[in-house]
Amino acid sequence: MGLFNFLKGKPKLPETGKQKSATKAGAGLPENEAEITPKTGETLATIMLNSQTFRVLVPAGDTILNACLGNGLDAPFMCEAGVCTTCRATLLQGKVTMMACYGLNDEEVKKGYILTCQSLPQTAEIAISYD
Ligand code: FES
Repeated sequence: MGLFNFLKGKPKLPETGKQKSATKAGAGLPENEAEITPKTGETLATIMLNSQTFRVLVPAGDTILNACLGNGLDAPFMCEAGVCTTCRATLLQGKVTMMACYGLNDEEVKKGYILTCQSLPQTAEIAISYD
């Protein structure tokens, strides 16, 4: 699948509640997801939070949590060190690498739980749920 086709397609996820495009404060991007164009290395992330669905871009080398907070989402967190699990979410699509993971056991990781404060996306598109 070419980048053009990727950008035209919608993520194949269940529709759950309203969908909004999270943007940086003042950026003024429209809610149409096609207007969110990942640059090389960026990841298009679908974030389910508080029964709503958002789409944000995660810059290369940035964590999912940082991207959420940078886009004004009220994502949960405390330690930002991989210990408290307050930022825990379920990975629904794509792959991530966790820089540290002290708060989850192997079984939880196998079930798809991730610590968003430590997670770096490894695919062009990911989807997670905090709910
Ligand atoms: S904020 Fe504590 S583990 Fe992520």
